[in-house]
Formats: sequence, structure tokens, C-alpha cells
Amino acid sequence: MIQNKTNFGRKLSTMVAAVMLASVAAMSLVCCSEKTHKYRIGISQCSDDSWRQKQNSEFRFMSYINDSVEVDIKSAKDNNVQQAAQIDSLVDEGIDLLVVCPNQLDGVTKAIERAYDKGIPVIFFDRTTNSNKYTAFIGCDNYRIGFDLGTYIANQLNGSGRVVEIRGLDNSSPAKGRHEGFVDALKNYPDVKIVASEGADWEQTGAEKAMEKILAKTTDFDYVYAHNDRMAYAAYLTMRRHNLSGKAKFVGVDGLLGKGGGVEMVNEGILDASYLNPTGGQEVVDLAMKILTGKDFNRSNSLSTTIITKNNAELTLMTDLNAEQQRNMLERLHNQVNKYQRYNSGQELFISLLGVLLVLLIAAVVMMRKSSMAKGKLAQQLTKRNEELNKLNTEVIALTQSRLRFFTNVSHELRTPLTLIVDPVEQLFKDEKLSKHGRNLLVIVRRNANALRRLVDDIMDFRKIQDGNVKLHLCNFSLAEKVRQWVSDFYPTVEKKNVNLEINTDKYTDSDFVGDEE
Ligand code: FRU
Repeated sequence: MIQNKTNFGRKLSTMVAAVMLASVAAMSLVCCSEKTHKYRIGISQCSDDSWRQKQNSEFRFMSYINDSVEVDIKSAKDNNVQQAAQIDSLVDEGIDLLVVCPNQLDGVTKAIERAYDKGIPVIFFDRTTNSNKYTAFIGCDNYRIGFDLGTYIANQLNGSGRVVEIRGLDNSSPAKGRHEGFVDALKNYPDVKIVASEGADWEQTGAEKAMEKILAKTTDFDYVYAHNDRMAYAAYLTMRRHNLSGKAKFVGVDGLLGKGGGVEMVNEGILDASYLNPTGGQEVVDLAMKILTGKDFNRSNSLSTTIITKNNAELTLMTDLNAEQQRNMLERLHNQVNKYQRYNSGQELFISLLGVLLVLLIAAVVMMRKSSMAKGKLAQQLTKRNEELNKLNTEVIALTQSRLRFFTNVSHELRTPLTLIVDPVEQLFKDEKLSKHGRNLLVIVRRNANALRRLVDDIMDFRKIQDGNVKLHLCNFSLAEKVRQWVSDFYPTVEKKNVNLEINTDKYTDSDFVGDEE
């Protein structure tokens, strides 16, 4: 039975230890999986159009494939005040690095400088400000875009013709660069004239209005150079509305891939050409990570570009189709991973709860074991104490017995001489010549001898009582009478010493104490 109990105890401890190890392993797995340090990159977009959306999806994609990157994207709808506020809030949220595409050259400079002065690295992408307070720039060379497209148009026109320009948002760095490059390129072709130039806001509606203004001035031009594809398409639509289709050719910038993008428009013949302005989301995050991890980096980073014409549009589209499929697949994969992570975090919670329960269980088992050990020890101590007491008891009994034996033996020895005193006294009583005084003395002698014999008998009876051989027998007697007798025994002695001994028992009648005396 005891053996079984011990086996059970051992099994229980082994089981508890195994479960404990498993849960510690599970918990450490959970902990380890959460340990990767995340860099928070705040991204401030000036606009929210298809080009920006593609870029944002690239930023997000980079954070999916890079465990240590977290992106927080905010889009200000071409509004300086809104963008400045968004930059401030990103800084307040505690970002590690700011990627910003400033709406205009000076509209959000202060907010950016505030972030920079707080020690947050700042990357300008696609657009810049007039300030020198930034860590690095990444984007296209807008002057070169303008210059290349100016050269392309002039060549298409064989060095002679009329062009109109629809500019991007005034006071924004790409609009400035793309205009200046274009103007400079055409300086090489004196017979190619810019007959009108109108500012827009990078958007379709703004460009339609700009085109209306141009058409109001002149319809005599061969090319429309717009600072982006969206605005080039708006010009195309406006011309069509005015039944001027086919009268001019359209050139834009961005060369966005995908449905309705610049490349498709070139391929379909809506635009004559576009210029690739890569969204470069991957390159931006790579540069950010170089800065954050203290690696070497260039302050100015140009993204490679190319002109897109009918000659290369189809091939570019086909290449992108494949890439697009891969992007979609990765997006789906990411969603799956997200789903799994959500499920996993539920399991992590369950495992943590299990861990807590297990710790409680172990604590309970340990406490139970401790208390049962303490109980066992106490029981052992009590048994030992009991044994000692029993031994002591036996010794006391033996001692008492030997004392009693001694007293009984002595009493036996006393009884014989007492009997030998009482018998001659009895004989003396029968002597008629005995004086009254002598008789009185003999009464005393007889009574005391009898009393002594009774005491001796009492001692011997005590032994019998101890052995359980005597029954208690109660009787009534006259206490007053007895006391009178006991006191009268002392008269002869006290008389000799001239002491007066009296006892007053008048208050009590003998009937108060009447009973059988033994
Ligand atoms: C997108 C966009 C592009 C253009 C770029 C210039 O917001 O308007 O079409 O090339 O910004 O910064």
C-alpha cells in the first residue's frame, strides 16, 4: 500500500515536471517570437492618387517582408496645413524615422524641421523643400525628366513645331524641375516654341481647367507636355470634347503600370509618350533601414528612369503583368499569415493561461507535499513522546506497587503487636479489682490500640482497593459522639500538662448524625 503511494507520488512529480517543461518551452517560444525590435517609419504623403497608392502598397509590402519594420502612412490631400499637422502627430506617436513627400517647397518646412531638430532622421522622397534640414533624398531627377521629354518632343517634331505645357502644382519641386529642364532642352531647338504654359495641381480636374485656358488662347499646337500622365489624359479628354482629337499629341510623366496607367495609355495610343517616375517604395525603405541601422548611405539617391513610347510600352506591360501577379500572390500570403497570427495570438493567450494554471497546480502540489511531510514528522514525534510517557507510567506504577508492598508488609508486622496489646487489655477489663481511674485509662488504651489497628487495616485495605478487591461501603455515624470520644482520649495527656481541653457539641444532638457505624 505504502509502496503504491510512493509510486503514485513519483509518477505525479514526473508528470508535473514534464508538463512544466513543455509549458516553459511553449512560453519561451511565445516570448521569443515577440522579441524582434521594430523600427517605426512614419510616412507623410502629400497626396492620395493612384501613383501614391501604388507606392503605399510597396511600403506596406516592405513591412510585411521585413520583421523589423513597421510603417505608419498618413496622406494629406494636397494640403500643406493638413500635412504639417500629420507630421506633428507622427512625431508625437514616437516614430524612429520620417519619410516625407512635401506638398510644396515651403508649405510644410517648419513641421519637417521640428522633426529633424528632435533628432528624427528625415528622408525626402519624390519632392523636396528649400530647407537643408533633411538626412537624405530619394527620387527622380525632375530636371532631367523635363529635359529628356523636351528633347524627345523636339526630335519628334524634327526640330520645328509648337508645344503647350500643363505644369504640376506651382511651388512644388517636381513641377519646378520638370519645367526648367523642358525649357532648357528646347533652347537647343529654337524652332520649337512653347506657345502656352498653364499651372494645375497634379490632378485631372485642375488640368482640364488649365487646358480650357490654353484652348481659349490657341488651338494651334502639335504637342501637349503635361507634368504627369493624369494631367496629359485630362488634356486629351478636353481636346476630344472640343472635337480637336488627333490635332495634337500628348506626353506625360509617371509611366504607371497597371490598368489605366500611363504605360497602358501609351500602348493604346492615347499618349504619345510617358516618362517612368518609379514609385520606389522598396528603395525608400531600404534607404531608411540603412540610416536606422547606422550603415553607410548616400545623401542624394536618384531612381533610374526611362522614356516610354509605343516601342517599349507593350513589353513593359507584359513584364509588369507577371510582377503584378506575384504582388497579388504575396498580398494573399500576407493576409493568410495575418489570419494565422490572429489565430496564433489566441493560442498564445491559451498557453499563457495554461502556464499560470500549471504554476498554481505545482504550487498546490508542493504545498500539499510539504504539509504531508510536516504531518508525518509530527506524528513521528508524537509516537516517540507517547512511548516515553508509557515507559514513565510503567516505572511509576512499578514504584507505587513496591511502596504499597512495603507499607502492606509493615502494616502486617504492626498488626500482630497491636493484637497482643488489645488482648491483655481485654483481660484486664475483666479484673474487678481495677480502680475506676485505671479502667478509664484502659478504655483509652483499648480505643487507641483499636484505632491503630484500624489504621493498619486501612493501609491493608488500600492495597486491596488498588487491586480492585474491595467495594466501597458507606455508613452514617454520630460525628459529635465520635469527636467527643476522640477528644476524651487526650484528657489524661493534657491533664498532665495542666492544659484545659474542652469540646462543645451541645448544638448538635446525636440524632443529627444517627446512622450505622461500622
Ligand atoms: C503623384 C504625383 C505624380 C507626380 C508626382 C510629383 O502624387 O502627382 O503624378 O509625378 O506626384 O510629385
